[in-house]
Amino acid sequence: MSANPEAMPDREEFLVFGSPLIGEEEIAEVVACLRSGWIGTGPRVAAFEQQFREYRSMPHAVAVNSCTAGLHLSLLAAGLEPGDEVITTPLTFCATVNAIIHSGATPVLADVDPVTQNIDPAEVARRITPRTRAIVPVHFAGRPCDMNPLMALARKHGLKVIEDCAHAAETTYEGRPAGSFGDFGCFSFYVTKNLTTGEGGMVLTHSAEAQAKLQVLALHGLTRHAWKRFGDDGYKHYDVVECGFKYNMTDLQAALGLHQLRRIESNWVRREAVWKRYMTELAPLPVTLPAPAAAGTRHGYHLFTILVDERRCGVSRDEFVQRMTRCRIGVGVHYVSLPEHSFYREAFHWKPDDYPHAARIGRQTVSIPLSAKLTDQDVGDVIEAVKYSLQR
Ligand SMILES: Cc1ncc(COP(=O)(O)O)c(C=O)c1O
Repeated sequence: MSANPEAMPDREEFLVFGSPLIGEEEIAEVVACLRSGWIGTGPRVAAFEQQFREYRSMPHAVAVNSCTAGLHLSLLAAGLEPGDEVITTPLTFCATVNAIIHSGATPVLADVDPVTQNIDPAEVARRITPRTRAIVPVHFAGRPCDMNPLMALARKHGLKVIEDCAHAAETTYEGRPAGSFGDFGCFSFYVTKNLTTGEGGMVLTHSAEAQAKLQVLALHGLTRHAWKRFGDDGYKHYDVVECGFKYNMTDLQAALGLHQLRRIESNWVRREAVWKRYMTELAPLPVTLPAPAAAGTRHGYHLFTILVDERRCGVSRDEFVQRMTRCRIGVGVHYVSLPEHSFYREAFHWKPDDYPHAARIGRQTVSIPLSAKLTDQDVGDVIEAVKYSLQR
């Protein structure tokens, strides 16, 4: 690394990847919730559900304790049965495919487009069999999937569509919000997400019937509105009508979410500015930057991923990650492709090279910080650290 004059940024504090911007309003609301004595599922969850579905212009929302839970319940509510096949992307977090497996269905992978890094509709078409029942597109990094061809395939083959919107709270495609195309849209409010409740998730749906099913399944299979049974209109008996799960969101989580939601657009504007600065200042480097957003779409700017190709950079991705850490900059890897993991190789005999674009991206990709909390100094430090870490 000696021939090149780039200096290591002089940071004392480690820049935590994905650290969220938490305002005084969230803190005050959490305290108010604690003081109210009602910290479980209650009025703040109901308000958060209403405000989030209004933000996404959808008629029905069910808050849950994670996106994983939301995906699981949506797949069950979609009526999947053992032997059914569900197509998704190999370039996603394991939660997407684990939810499919827990629903009893068999996951089938379709490779991504090498430029957008989203599931390729032509690959989906190739993987459809008489047993295919659903598609789970993931709007990777906040960039919308190509929903027109995906929805055309779903219509042609009678498939359910469950959108994994974990990265896509602000994303739109042809003016319509991500999560409004399919039967269900599942959002994540995990700590690193654009809107966080610590842990949490939301499912949006067009169907009142599906909403009712999700509500019952999310709370042990108890009759609807069982969370009201300790309210001021007196104790209510419940009936168990399904074998459900414990997936409900709490008011403590919603207290955070209500105020995070109020700032979702201003945070997006800040991340867009950071994104643009990265695009300009990293352009001369021998890395691949994210593809520009497609016309008629809005990128959610959740992850800024660069590809470090060892042949071009003279540095492996993993060495680059270590150097960034030495520069006191936290980075992420989204994602090593699913077939690289031993469980899936053993359970489904998946081979990374059967999905060559996802495999290559998964071996080269690094996510650099993109939180609204970043100061201009932080962003400058990240850029300096990237330059430093790419030196031969
Ligand atoms: C694409 C994707 N899907 C699903 C999930 C699961 O979200 P949660 O942690 O809220 O269960 C994540 C979380 O990182 C994700 O990135």
